[in-house]
Amino acid sequence: MEHHNTIEAKMCPHVLLFPLPIQSPINSMLQLAELFCLADLQVTFLNTNHNQQLLYRHTNVESRFKQYPKFQFRTISDGLPDDHPRSFPMFEDLINSLQAVAEPFLRKILTESGVTCVIPDGLFYYAVDICNEVGVSVISFDTISPCCLWVYLCFPKLIQTGDIPFKGNDLDVLIENVPGMEDLLRRRDFPFYRLTNCATDLYCQLALKEIQSIPRSHGLILNTFEDLDGPLLSLIRSHCPQTYAVGPLHLQLKTRLADKTMSSSNSLWEEDHSSIQWLDAHPTESVIYVSFGSLATLTKKEILEFWHGLVNSGIRFLWVMRSDLLREEEFSHQFVKELTDGCEERAYIVSWAPQEKVLSHPAIGGFLTHSGWNSTMESIVERKPMICWAVYVDQRVTSRFVGEVWKIGLDMKDICDRYIIEKAVKELMVTNKDKLKKSVDKLSMLAEISVGEGGSSYNAFEYLVNDIKKLGR
Ligand code: UDX
Repeated sequence: MEHHNTIEAKMCPHVLLFPLPIQSPINSMLQLAELFCLADLQVTFLNTNHNQQLLYRHTNVESRFKQYPKFQFRTISDGLPDDHPRSFPMFEDLINSLQAVAEPFLRKILTESGVTCVIPDGLFYYAVDICNEVGVSVISFDTISPCCLWVYLCFPKLIQTGDIPFKGNDLDVLIENVPGMEDLLRRRDFPFYRLTNCATDLYCQLALKEIQSIPRSHGLILNTFEDLDGPLLSLIRSHCPQTYAVGPLHLQLKTRLADKTMSSSNSLWEEDHSSIQWLDAHPTESVIYVSFGSLATLTKKEILEFWHGLVNSGIRFLWVMRSDLLREEEFSHQFVKELTDGCEERAYIVSWAPQEKVLSHPAIGGFLTHSGWNSTMESIVERKPMICWAVYVDQRVTSRFVGEVWKIGLDMKDICDRYIIEKAVKELMVTNKDKLKKSVDKLSMLAEISVGEGGSSYNAFEYLVNDIKKLGR
């Protein structure tokens, strides 16, 4: 299957997907891969050995993809030793060591295997360069929020106007030179809100390389839909006319799969399904779901503030406490036991949940989230308003949009205090519930229409497949 001659490959387009090796992009890229399989394309999914092992251990991915004869996984080392944490603040190691392994691998596979189109994560600017060098088409997939991508695209202008790096410490100053966000974006909503020097900040440099590679790609895939991000998509298209808004991807996949009951978990960790049984015992919309995604960490003080705020609100909650959620140290069972003692009826803790199932459960009334892009899309689809505790990068822009543009949640931003949390939980679940619910219900309905036959995301996916077929000829 790996070695096709060029003529055969040109008749049947062969797409190579290369995700950033973390949970959220792996989720989105696997969903895209399965959609391509349904469209009868030949698909290779390039994963790191480390993540492939986790996927195989915790999901039915292996058997699920066996039903597609034109699909294959390929794996490479990420260049790190087994015991490396592969998370923030050591994420930089992962990015650098993977690049060192991936560059020669891509050069080799692209000259040998008849791949006709590469779809790398937007952060892999070097994959775009290699494709251009060896003459293979490339379409980037930016799995972060489009509102953040638009801010990235404005970086050169912001540097020129002197908006960044920031001068002074006032985080409430408006950044007025991002078109479409003139009255909206404060320094505290900026992806790198503590930025002091663009030239030395790794993530700022990566963002700059990412946007420079966009015009060198044939197109750009985004996990959003026109009715959510229409105005921003128009602005992004001024940089990349061939932008395909195909989201929400998980909903597009569910809609197109004939067997809609099939579990599509792509979890790198074991999902604790006791969370669903716990939810089954509770009334409709009475529980708030708390999760900070797969990478974000909190200080012990922040965890205690969230905990007491939630307990004091009187609302039941289900909290995903990853073993590496605590910034300073490993979680001890003792710490969790001390928290939960006396709250067993009101609170339930798991280390990883089947999130889509949790969010779709009728007992869930809201989501306290870090505003990761997948979590935001999943929450919109399942009609759950949000409280946002954004930690970094796109989360900071997304949470501003949740609170002020889409008006489907409350953006806490920066002040982690039990009284504020208690107030926000009551607002989300009781006092402001109807208003927020009405807005999120509307967006959810529009999301559903977008992935239905003839909808904007449905059509965008059809265009994408057709364009890939044309590239392959
Ligand atoms: C990272 C960045 O933090 C985020 O800013 C960016 O938008 C994407 O990359 P992550 O922290 O993993 O993302 O958050 P998110 O995008 O929300 O993705 C988490 C995924 O893990 C979701 O698809 C969610 O369904 C899943 N998840 C999360 C679980 O399956 N179980 C859990 O317990 C928690």
